[in-house]
Amino acid sequence: ASLGRFLACLPKAELHLHIEGTLEPELMFELAQRNNVLHTLPCKTLDEMRAAYNFEDLQSFLDLYYAGCAALICEQDFYDLTMAYFQRAKADNIVHTEIFFDPQTHTLRNIPLRQVIQGIARAQKEAEQSLGISSGLIMCFLRDQGPEKALQTLTEAEEFLEYVVGVGLDSTELGNPPSLFQGVFERAEELGLKRVAHAGEEGPAEYIWEALEKLRVQRIDHGVKCLEDTKLIGHLKDINMALTVCPLSNLELKIYTGQLEERMIELLGTGVLVTINSDDPAYFGGYINANYLWLIQKLGLSSQQIADLHANSFKASFLPEETKTKHC
Ligand code: HPA
Ligand code: ZN
Repeated sequence: ASLGRFLACLPKAELHLHIEGTLEPELMFELAQRNNVLHTLPCKTLDEMRAAYNFEDLQSFLDLYYAGCAALICEQDFYDLTMAYFQRAKADNIVHTEIFFDPQTHTLRNIPLRQVIQGIARAQKEAEQSLGISSGLIMCFLRDQGPEKALQTLTEAEEFLEYVVGVGLDSTELGNPPSLFQGVFERAEELGLKRVAHAGEEGPAEYIWEALEKLRVQRIDHGVKCLEDTKLIGHLKDINMALTVCPLSNLELKIYTGQLEERMIELLGTGVLVTINSDDPAYFGGYINANYLWLIQKLGLSSQQIADLHANSFKASFLPEETKTKHC
């Protein structure tokens, strides 16, 4: 219980959070009703929706996550969604967060990119002023839509780059290796954008190598499959590469089923720069503190280990160097 209090008091950073994955069923239904699109939701009632949060793997989650986005239409919806996350973040004592969004999920439904970015950005500005939470926005390409669509999306986003710190790569991992996106990530680098990619969540350690070497990423999202490759673990340590690990997500998406606790202990033991994050908290049953609490309860983490993980998040963030060291 005292570790819980210690955790609650730590001012934290979050580096792996999909804003669409913070859409709680209550808000989903409220927005869908407001927009007259209740009939387009994947479930008819809140209870049915909650019962559907029972996943086999990454794809079964993604199907529901994309379907839920049907509720998001107006600029105000993206503002409300993002503000609701900031309220949750405040409750968990998050002081800095780097938020992912999936532009293609919305542009594919003919929602203008401007509407999405401006709604999120308006909430970011408001949260900075009223809640004291700083944040960055990272635009993720849907890897299952392929590299041409990704490049098109990047080009479309060029007029909004003042709102975006970097690009990422997410969605269906298996069969969609990072190497396919080399050109898009080169263009992002030319534009001065930071680069991250989901790799080694469901996919193999090889995808982590590709993200590092072909996409020149500055963080690996998930990356837990590095445990299958000793040479890779050594390399990640050598280059001080951060992994944004999401324990409750891995648990719910059946990554390392039945041995997740052992593998997390192993991962923490490697000395790789691990950070703890919530991924899609509305779907996986908990925000950032719940992810830390799971580790505390299942792995018996000490307060020193929690403090180290917490410092890692600031080190691995895209905050200016001066700001980082204040928190570590
Ligand atoms: N993996 C891949 N794509 C995603 C995820 C994830 O964990 N969450 C939202 N989109
Ligand atoms: Zn993710």
